[in-house]
Amino acid sequence: MQLKFLPSFVKRKGRITKKQTHSLSSLSEFSVKSIQEVEDFSKHFDKCYLEIGFGNAENIIFQAINNPSYLFIGSEVYMSGIGTLVSSIKENNINNIKIFSDDIRILLDQSPKIVFDSVIIICPDPWPKEKHHKRRLINKSFLEMVHDFMKDDSNIYISTDWENYAESISELFVKNKLFKPSSNKSFQKDSLSKFERRGKDEGRELFEFNYKKVS
Ligand SMILES: C[S@@+](CC[C@H](N)C(=O)[O-])C[C@H]1O[C@@H](n2cnc3c(N)ncnc32)[C@H](O)[C@@H]1O
Repeated sequence: MQLKFLPSFVKRKGRITKKQTHSLSSLSEFSVKSIQEVEDFSKHFDKCYLEIGFGNAENIIFQAINNPSYLFIGSEVYMSGIGTLVSSIKENNINNIKIFSDDIRILLDQSPKIVFDSVIIICPDPWPKEKHHKRRLINKSFLEMVHDFMKDDSNIYISTDWENYAESISELFVKNKLFKPSSNKSFQKDSLSKFERRGKDEGRELFEFNYKKVS
């Protein structure tokens, strides 16, 4: 079968714990499968945020607990991260997170609905080797896709600790007239994510991009 998108994620062997396996059995209670479902749920909240590649879910949980009137859609393909998020949703009685447990481009390939007030992508897989750059999630067609689902003036935040990726993201935003720089970040973090911490420990700088949709 011909895949529509080159995989943008690294297949991790990561061990899935018993607790994560147990949580994954109730994933469907917390899942969304279509943009129509996202739109339907979002009607019950003041704003709708999308976090792509939430990893071990630290940020999305922090955001959801601190912004109970906002809906958070988390997208991830990494099953142990999804299991961790489901456990945490249950343990903390969180009712403002829904999970899209697949490649986000499958959701964004659906007929667009203008639903997102903010899109957050913290440390997308860097694919540092030049021959793998074509696998990077952030490219021209991705920005065009996500733009179609964002409200006017809504924000997109991207961070990376890989200088070469940062250069290409910066170039994309300069060339692409769909977004303009924004001085305000649409969310506050209380700590570094796992991959931001790793970059810092390995001596890499963190590059952050705050843009907003041009209508
Ligand atoms: C380098 S990790 C960063 C995780 C987390 N944001 C952090 O900073 O700790 C990138 C994550 O993005 C996820 N990812 C990559 N491509 C994706 C896609 N197309 N759709 C959804 N998630 C994706 C990967 O599975 C991985 O967990």
